[in-house]
Amino acid sequence: MNIRDKIKYNILEKLLARKGEHVSGEELAHELAVSRAAVWKHIQALRAEGYMIKSSTNLGYSLASTPDLLTPTAVKAGLKTQIIGRDIQYFKETESTNTIAREIAGSVEEGTVVIAESQTGGRGRMGRKWISPEGGIWLSIIIKPKIQPLYASRITLLAGVSVAKTIRSYGLPAKIKWPNDVLINGKKACGILTEIEAEIDLIDYCVVGIGIDANVDTESFPEEARETSTSLKKELGSGINRVEFVQKLLEEFESLYLKFQKDGFSPILEEWRNMSATIGEWVKITTQARTIYGEAIGVDSEGALVLETGEGKLEKIVAGNCEHLRRI
Ligand code: BTN
Repeated sequence: MNIRDKIKYNILEKLLARKGEHVSGEELAHELAVSRAAVWKHIQALRAEGYMIKSSTNLGYSLASTPDLLTPTAVKAGLKTQIIGRDIQYFKETESTNTIAREIAGSVEEGTVVIAESQTGGRGRMGRKWISPEGGIWLSIIIKPKIQPLYASRITLLAGVSVAKTIRSYGLPAKIKWPNDVLINGKKACGILTEIEAEIDLIDYCVVGIGIDANVDTESFPEEARETSTSLKKELGSGINRVEFVQKLLEEFESLYLKFQKDGFSPILEEWRNMSATIGEWVKITTQARTIYGEAIGVDSEGALVLETGEGKLEKIVAGNCEHLRRI
C-alpha cells in the first residue's frame, strides 16, 4: 500500500470512528504528520469516491454518509489483516471475479482480493451459472499455500468455515452443507468455487471465489431457486453493512489460514464438523461418473464425505454435488 493511500484510509478511519461529529483539520494533520493542505486533498479524494464529508471553517470535517460500495478504500479502512486484502482489485461490474483472479494470480502478491459489485458471467460449481446482481458480495481471494494439489479441498472447507463463522456473528444459525455451501435455516446463502493452478506436486496458486447473497431481494431469484436459496437481508429482516461483513470475512479467513499453516488441518476440520448440516443426513451424491445414495456419517481428514450406503458399505466421496434428502 502506498503512503498516500495509507493516509487517506487513516483519515477515513478517524472520521468513521467519530461519525457525525466534527474532527478538526489541525487534529488530523497533527496525528498523521501531514500538512492541513494535504488533509484537504485527501478529503477531496474521499468525496470523489462518494463519501459525504461536511466541512466547517471552525469545527473541521464531519462524515455524513458513506457510499454503499465495496471499494478498496471502504474495505481497507479499519481492516485488521496482514495479508488478505492488502491489495484489492475492484470492479463495478465484471464477468467473473474468479476469472480476473486467475488472470492476475501469477503476478500479484498472496492475499490479493478481487471484488465486484455485480458479475455478468458469475461461475458456480459443476459448470453452473452463478447469478450475481448488485447488493450481493462477489469476491475472490488469491492464496499461494505450499501444499500439494491433492490437499486443495482443505482450502475449500476452510473458506466455508470462515463464511459460516462470519454469518453466525450476525446471530444467524449458519451451517455448512458438504462440501461448502453455507445454509441458513436450510437454505443456501453462499456458494464457494475454489480453482487451482498447480504442478504435479505443488500448488502455484489457489483462487477462492465466494458468493454471498447479502442484500439481494429473494424475489429477484429465479423461480427454481426461491425454494432452496435465501439472502442475509431476508433472514435478518433488513440489509447488512456489506463493508463490515467483508472486513469480518477477510479477517476470519486470514485467521483460519494462518492457523492452518501453523497447526495443520485438524483444528479447521473440527470447526467444519461442528457446523456441518450434512453429517447425519440422508444424501444423494452426484459425481461425474455416478449417483450414490446413503447416510452421511462423517468427513475424513482430507475433507472427503464418508457415506454408509443402503448395503451397509462405506464410500468416500472426494468431489461431487450433494443433495440432502427429505425423510418420509
Ligand atoms: C457454487 O456453485 O455454489 C459456487 C458459487 C461461487 C460464486 C462465486 S461469486 C465470486 C466468484 N466469482 C465467480 O464467478 N464465482 C465465484
